[in-house]
Amino acid sequence: MEAFQLMSAKPILTLTVNPALDVSTSTGRVISGHKLRCGTSRLDPGGGGVNVSRVIQRLGGQTLAIHTAGGPTGEAYRRLIEAEHIPSLVVPIHGSTRQNFTVDETATEKQFRFVLEGPELTEAEWRACLSVVAESIPVGGYVVASGSLPPGVPEDFYARIARLARKGGAHCIVDTSGAALAQALAEGVFLVKPSRRELGEHVNAALDSEQSQIEAASALIADGSAEYVALTLGEAGAMLATKSGVIRLPVPSVQVLSTVGAGDSFLGALVLRLAQGHPIEVAFRAAVAAGSATAMTPATELCHRRDVERLEAELSARAL
Ligand SMILES: Nc1ncnc2c1ncn2[C@@H]1O[C@H](COP(=O)(O)OP(=O)(O)OP(=O)(O)O)[C@@H](O)[C@H]1O
Ligand SMILES: [Mg+2]
Repeated sequence: MEAFQLMSAKPILTLTVNPALDVSTSTGRVISGHKLRCGTSRLDPGGGGVNVSRVIQRLGGQTLAIHTAGGPTGEAYRRLIEAEHIPSLVVPIHGSTRQNFTVDETATEKQFRFVLEGPELTEAEWRACLSVVAESIPVGGYVVASGSLPPGVPEDFYARIARLARKGGAHCIVDTSGAALAQALAEGVFLVKPSRRELGEHVNAALDSEQSQIEAASALIADGSAEYVALTLGEAGAMLATKSGVIRLPVPSVQVLSTVGAGDSFLGALVLRLAQGHPIEVAFRAAVAAGSATAMTPATELCHRRDVERLEAELSARAL
């Protein structure tokens, strides 16, 4: 059955305009003025869209990852993507791909995440990203635009992607925040995946009650901003709003080590299951399972397939 699903899965394209080489390590305590001796370090090719591609790959699916890369960090980034055998199209840029830095403080189990600003893209560079996407739109498939926009890229960039996807007959999925999110929603997308913080900023409300969350998510369906809203609520699980109503899922019980990449894992599993032809409710369960499976792994490490499938089965059994 899996082979059949793989053969018939709809194509998925992911886009990462602001990728980051993720450097993660640990130290006893983060104290100013001292040399902080760190443990072993780990390098991962991060950034929203690429992480979505990596999760889909781990779960047995395939994507085409379009991303920018520049400078020596961009070179290292490309090699890491190649090493994971992820089919990709690279848009070269003059600036250097950024790095993000995550430090686990072992004495307290706190995690410090330093997220750097990306290099500025020239107009020719961001337009090149649009052209590469336009040439690769999978008819009937999915275009996942995820992550922040680097300096130089106009706020309506994801709105332009949404327009290209619609014209090309593909489903556009957006995971971003702030003005880029607002403009994409004004254009209209197939699915949007805000976290509670991101949707709260968008509607200028705390969204700390279930009712306010339901109202904010449903409003986006009602006004045509999106066909589906997958609102993720961290340790409280997630909510899915569709035109037929709202469903909620709590997280399965897991031991949490690090939630870095949880949202990307949620989205990766969601899109993969949709592309495999599963109903949205099934895809939504897989998404919560994958987000929580990534929370079980340390630092920047993403979910493992066996954990996702186990948690997915647990959530389906609960739904019966
Ligand atoms: N502490 C946790 N325990 C279990 N599962 C979690 C936890 N945090 C996140 N998850 C899982 O990951 C999913 C996404 O998490 P979250 O809502 O934090 O989104 P995010 O995109 O990572 O957040 P943001 O973009 O604001 O940093 C949740 O719906 C849940 O399935
Ligand atoms: Mg997120």
